[in-house]
Amino acid sequence: MKKIIFKNQEQQVEILYQKEISKISESFPEHGKMFFVCDERVLEKNPQMNKLLNENVYLVKSPEKEKDLQSTIRILKFLKDNGCNRNDHLIAIGGGATTDLGGFASSIYMRGINLIIIPTSLLGQVDASVGGKTGVNFESYKNLVGSFFNPKKVIVCTNFLESLDEQEYLNGLAEILKHAIITSDNDVDTLLKNIEKITSRDNDFLEEQTKRSIEIKTKIVTEDFLEAEQRKFLNFGHTFAHGIESINQNNPILHGHAVIIGMKMALEFSYQEKFLDEESFTKSKNLLNSFKYNLSDIELDADKILSAMELDKKNDGNGINLVLLKKIGVPFLSKSNEPNKILKFLINFIDNFE
Ligand SMILES: NC(=O)c1ccc[n+]([C@@H]2O[C@H](COP(=O)([O-])OP(=O)(O)OC[C@H]3O[C@@H](n4cnc5c(N)ncnc54)[C@H](O)[C@@H]3O)[C@@H](O)[C@H]2O)c1
Repeated sequence: MKKIIFKNQEQQVEILYQKEISKISESFPEHGKMFFVCDERVLEKNPQMNKLLNENVYLVKSPEKEKDLQSTIRILKFLKDNGCNRNDHLIAIGGGATTDLGGFASSIYMRGINLIIIPTSLLGQVDASVGGKTGVNFESYKNLVGSFFNPKKVIVCTNFLESLDEQEYLNGLAEILKHAIITSDNDVDTLLKNIEKITSRDNDFLEEQTKRSIEIKTKIVTEDFLEAEQRKFLNFGHTFAHGIESINQNNPILHGHAVIIGMKMALEFSYQEKFLDEESFTKSKNLLNSFKYNLSDIELDADKILSAMELDKKNDGNGINLVLLKKIGVPFLSKSNEPNKILKFLINFIDNFE
């Protein structure tokens, strides 16, 4: 069992890596009662999990649909009715939707009880479980209600990734690719040299890469807990991606898939604007093109994407905030007050998009 500890504000978060699912209970707390909020599909696909849980299990059947205030209230009631106290533990097991929901409930029950996260999707492991954001969707707004609340522990077990659907796996991989591109040539080279291991979900390589990706995100969010300068680099590709997600609302697409297109746009835009050198451009593009993302059903319409980008909550009304790239490992923040230039770029990009 390998362990990394980092301090976030005054709290300490332990990140534990466990290769085998059957051994994750070795990291369960020794004192206090445990209450599980668990993705039902994860239990179905990994029946050996049943032995590790007690009778206090709240099952989440449709994670993203149930990530709301009604389910939060049901979890609070589940905790109260089963005698959960201040020193007990909520253990959230599942993808990002389940851990966001469980995390939010644990942050408000008795003003916060101990939270342990066991992320089972790749997105959950490299993104949602790091950074202390919890929350639920409200009306039609994603993550509108939530809190900053760190878990005591995150237990990462890449064995869970074997049962993930192909496109769900690629969804999480987008974050690993992004973390590499904004961090260093070395990280990008390692991924490029190991495409086969990534595609075949080689457990050892995935453990190394989830660890590396978590380290990158942890470093950024620890230095900058409440979304200031550095943390914004994590939004590389995201302004475009949010625009794409927003216009596909009626036929929702996976976030990572929008981010892949968003990163391709950010790279191309950086290159056309002469910020980005050719070698970095080609290498990053090769990396993003190495995997079988199913992007065919995604609507891309330049006018609509631009309108959605202009409405993005991360803009302050004085232009469109973009994270662009100077070279691999050197992202920077840029504000554009030239919507027509972005529109022209989008039209051209979409015309040539395969
Ligand atoms: N808190 C944060 O900082 C943060 C960051 C990024 C994303 N998020 C949130 O995370 C959510 C997306 O995460 P996600 O992609 O994990 O979504 P998810 O939790 O909906 O999981 C995706 C699908 O994979 C299934 N699944 C999960 N683990 C599995 C496994 N091991 N085997 C088989 N199936 C499995 C789930 O049942 C679900 O059908 C969104 O709600 C997003 O807002 C939060």
